Amino acid sequence: MKNFWQDLKNKSAKSGKTICVLAPMADVTDAAFRRIIAKYGKPDVMWTEFVSADGLIRANAEGKKKLLRDLAFDESERPIVAQLFSSNPEYMYQAAKMIREMGFDGLDINMGCPDRGIEKQKAGAALMRNPRLAREVLRAALQGVSDGIDPKGRKSIPVSVKTRVGYNKNELETWLPQLLAEKPAMITVHGRTRKEMSKVPARWENVKRAVEIRDELKSETLIFGNGDVVSLEDAQNKARETGADGIMIGRAIFGNPWFFSKNFTETNDQFRVTRAEISVKEKLRVMVEHTELFEKLLGDVKNFSVMKKHFKAYVTGFDGAAELRAKLMETNTANEVKTIVDIFISNNIL
Ligand SMILES: Cc1cc2nc3c(=O)[nH]c(=O)nc-3n(C[C@H](O)[C@H](O)[C@H](O)COP(=O)(O)O)c2cc1C
Repeated sequence: MKNFWQDLKNKSAKSGKTICVLAPMADVTDAAFRRIIAKYGKPDVMWTEFVSADGLIRANAEGKKKLLRDLAFDESERPIVAQLFSSNPEYMYQAAKMIREMGFDGLDINMGCPDRGIEKQKAGAALMRNPRLAREVLRAALQGVSDGIDPKGRKSIPVSVKTRVGYNKNELETWLPQLLAEKPAMITVHGRTRKEMSKVPARWENVKRAVEIRDELKSETLIFGNGDVVSLEDAQNKARETGADGIMIGRAIFGNPWFFSKNFTETNDQFRVTRAEISVKEKLRVMVEHTELFEKLLGDVKNFSVMKKHFKAYVTGFDGAAELRAKLMETNTANEVKTIVDIFISNNIL
């Protein structure tokens, strides 16, 4: 089946530019931040935060409504992939049908999340310990996206998997072939095991090996690498070194919705990261815009504290940042944020 992944791959082969996609990050890449990213520095593909497939099917009306808000998206975000987690093939089948009917461009299955709550449901990283069930879930998703009615008249949408190199140890040699056997359109390999969480540097040699395994098996599935990428240049280099078809980027986007457009490298709280050459005033203006959008789109379902990690990331590396950050930590509304920022800008003659 021809799908948008192959179109991207063909374009990338012609232009020589690596495909760079936005990683799913719960309570970070929500509808508000994604819309800001789409406006200021759009990646080749967007991902939603993970959503429970089981919840979409069996939650009560109130619960479902909340989950559907996590799946709300704007046309400006296309192509956009919805990420689901589940260990229940029947729920995955039903939810996959829904995702296609909602008009998403693709469906991604989370098989790497180490969150205890998710692993208790035998989903996320726990699926690496149960390849048979993982394959059933993947098969159900592939069937689900092929059944049902499509708003755009498409026959189907591509299904991908996001996973790690293994559970307690590197299990790529056994784990990856299991997934490839089901022929997903794409697999993202986060270069760490479940046990390593994010404590050690991502091992990109594992991504290279994943590409080799794919080639040895003559599979057509695209392999993307993920972990610690700090800039578009870094992404390009890692794709060249490993042979990966594309790169997924997460934390480098914190406080930096310009990441996928223009950037230079500096150090943030977590690691060396690339930031856009953007004036402090513009950064603060976009932070306010982001906060207003958050309140408008998600204010009734998400806690305002979600915005606080964004404030920390936007407000760093300039004179007066620490005091401004401290003030922003006390806010509860977008209006308060705007007032504080306006005062800071006029006091500092920005
Ligand atoms: C706050 C946060 C939330 C995350 N949520 C998800 C998620 O919903 N689904 C998922 O597959 N991975 C999730 N991840 C993992 C990221 O997608 C990514 O694999 C990881 O951060 C490594 O990439 P990076 O070094 O570019 O950030 C999350 C990571 C962070 C930091």
